[in-house]
Order: sequence, then structure tokens, then C-alpha cells
Amino acid sequence: MAEAIRARAGLEDVVATASAICYLDGERGVLAYYGYDIHDLARESTFEETCYLLWHGRLPSRAELGDLQSQLAASRQLPEPIIRQMRSLPPTNGMDALRTLTSALGHYDADAVDDSRQANSRKAVRLAGQTASLVATYGRMSAGGGPIQPDPALGHAANFLYMLTGNRPGALAARAFDVALILHADHELNASTFAARVAAATLSDMHSAIVAAIGTLKGPLHGGANADVMRLLRDIGADASRERVDAVVRGKLARKEKIPGFGHRVYRTEDPRAAHLRRLSRELGERAGDTRWFEMSLQIESIVKTEKKLNPNVDFYSASTYHALGIPVELFTPIFAVSRISGWTAHVLEQYANNRLIRPRTEYVGPACPQIYEPLDRR
Ligand SMILES: CC(C)(COP(=O)(O)OP(=O)(O)OC[C@H]1O[C@@H](n2cnc3c(N)ncnc32)[C@H](O)[C@@H]1OP(=O)(O)O)[C@@H](O)C(=O)NCCC(=O)NCCS
Repeated sequence: MAEAIRARAGLEDVVATASAICYLDGERGVLAYYGYDIHDLARESTFEETCYLLWHGRLPSRAELGDLQSQLAASRQLPEPIIRQMRSLPPTNGMDALRTLTSALGHYDADAVDDSRQANSRKAVRLAGQTASLVATYGRMSAGGGPIQPDPALGHAANFLYMLTGNRPGALAARAFDVALILHADHELNASTFAARVAAATLSDMHSAIVAAIGTLKGPLHGGANADVMRLLRDIGADASRERVDAVVRGKLARKEKIPGFGHRVYRTEDPRAAHLRRLSRELGERAGDTRWFEMSLQIESIVKTEKKLNPNVDFYSASTYHALGIPVELFTPIFAVSRISGWTAHVLEQYANNRLIRPRTEYVGPACPQIYEPLDRR
């Protein structure tokens, strides 16, 4: 039975829907949003412009971009009951807090009872602004600080770092985080996006679909991997010798343990996002005068490539990049959501626009049917 289940499990290479949002070629390592190559977006675009692209299917004019920036800035203020609820949560992890508070945000949304296309588009913008504020404020309060008011003069990435740390970031840090947000914004029918689309396809509301996505992103086989990468680097130790790095990684592989941040269901070549994050990890490390995590990551990459022929995915160099930005490891996966909220909402809007209930089948591998029903007193 286990074999039959394994053969079907994972929906590998199954095309479950049609979508115009994300082009992904795992053989050639190509990723594009509405046809725009991720390398061009990472070099030239901003997260706000990428959001517009994902929500509207085209790049904005200057005026349209300005409007979106204003709408995002206006939605960064969290309702007071949400801050109170955040304070009242027992010690928890960031993804659990994000899941609970995103659900709560649905009650306070200005369009809570309106499921029209226009209202859902407004919810997408609000959720993008609010998710960043939720994660930054949660991070701040977990570290014992008080919430910081958003600064409408700052871009999305810079404002997030400001609300998290209380300091307005320099140009390099703000741009590095902006690029990380662009790179994580969408990725075709990954597990959390699929979860969001399944929920949306029942014609449930936008917030419910996003809560399903957040719960799915949390898992270590999906978004949770970036935090696991940092935990691995820390377990090895910043000052570890090359021999120790080698011994730890080879030991794990010998025990058939997975190395977080490697492998991918779709890419057979390097994840195109990894190259940008590798560069950011190096640049930020050099700026901080500490390239130890970057150097260790390079060494791990070389071992895993040689031993397992596996390439780093988006999560591997995200870890040392976020660490160099001063972001605590507990926020790494919530930060994935700060970006992916754009892709999730775009997919939910696309699902609503042409909806049909998603309801696949299983291959039955249980006991022969029918079984004879023995009444309880004869069993
Ligand atoms: C991403 C991932 C879930 C894809 O899974 P998948 O397509 O179901 O592939 P499998 O887990 O079946 O792996 C196939 C083989 O490669 C190995 N493998 C895959 N990822 C590995 C990793 N990170 N480290 C070591 N070995 C790995 C598996 O052990 C398996 O080997 P086997 O055939 O000898 O049993 C998987 O590569 C993984 O768990 N990576 C680590 C977590 C991670 O980084 N997730 C973020 C993804 S963006």
C-alpha cells in the first residue's frame, strides 16, 4: 500500500490548473512573472511594481505605481484590536501568530462582507500592506519593543526594516530586502499557492484562502526551510573550521538527512533566484565585515553539489542574507509571507475570475469493498 501511495503522492508534474501569472521552466531554470524574467525584475524593478504586475498582468505607468504606493502606505496601519490580540497571544512562533492575526484581520476589513472583484482587489492591496506590518510588529514585540508607526515616505522594503528595527535602513540594506521580496513574490503552483487556490475555488473569502496558504507555507518542506538553513549554520558555528563544516554536512548526508535549502520539485538546474541571493549574502556580509556565514554557505553548496548533485534553492542564501540584515531567524518564514502575499492574492483573484471547484480523486487502496458489517456485540 505504501508503494501505491508513494507512486501517486506529491502530484509531481501534474498540471492542476491554467494560469497566466507565472512561467516556470525547471529544465532551463527560467522564472518569469507575466513573461517578465525574474533576473530583469531583480535588477530593475521594486516590490511595489512587482505587486502591480502580479495583480494587473502588466507593468504600471508612473501614476499607477504612485497610486499603488499610496494605497499600500495607507494600509500599513494595523487596527488597534489586532495589536491588542498580538499582545495577548501566548509565546508562539511567527507563522502561528501570522496565521491567527491574518484571520482576525478579516473581521476588521473595510470590505469584509463584499466579495466583488473590486473589493477583492482592495483586499489584496490591504493584505500586502498589513502582512508586512504584522510581521514587523510581531518581531518588534517579541524582542520586547513597542510597535513602531509606519513611515509613509518609505518604500515597502525600507518601511518593513524600519518598523522591525526602529532604524531607517541604508540604501544597500533597503535594496537588498526589496530584491528578496521581488524574488519570493510568486512561484507558480507551489504548495501554499495551491492551498490558497483550493480554498478560493470553494468561493470562500480572500482572508480564508490566505490563512490556508500561511498554514501551508509554515512547513519545513516549504517556507520553513529558510529558518532551518540558519539553524544548521548556527549549529555548525560561525567560527567552525572547514573540516568541521565538511564533517557535519557529510555526516548528515551519510545518515540520509536532508540539508535544508537544497533540492526542488521543479528545478533540474539552479533555482534562478539563488544567484541573486548568493550575491546579496556576499555583499551584505562584506558591508558588515563578516562573511563567515556566506563562506560557510559556499562550502556547504559545494559539498552538496558534489555529493548529491543538488542545487541550492531560494531558501539557502536567503538565510545568510536575512541574518546579515539583522533579521532574527524566527522571522525568516514570516518574511517569506510578506512577499508571497502578492502572489497568493494574485492567484486567488485569478481563481475567482474563472472559477470551478477543485475536487480531485484518490486511487482507492483500502480493504476490499464491500466489507461485511458485524454488529458491535458479535465483534
Ligand atoms: C524541496 C523538496 C521537498 C522536494 O522534494 P521532492 O521533489 O519530493 O523530492 P524528494 O524529497 O523525494 O527527494 C528526492 C531524492 O533527493 C534527496 N534529497 C532531496 N532534497 C534533499 C536535500 N535537501 N538534502 C539531501 N537530500 C535531498 C532525497 O533524500 C531523495 O533521495 P532518495 O531518492 O535517495 O530517497 C526536497 O528537495 C527537500 O525536502 N528539500 C529540503 C527542504 C527545502 O529546502 N525546502 C524548500 C523548497 S523551495
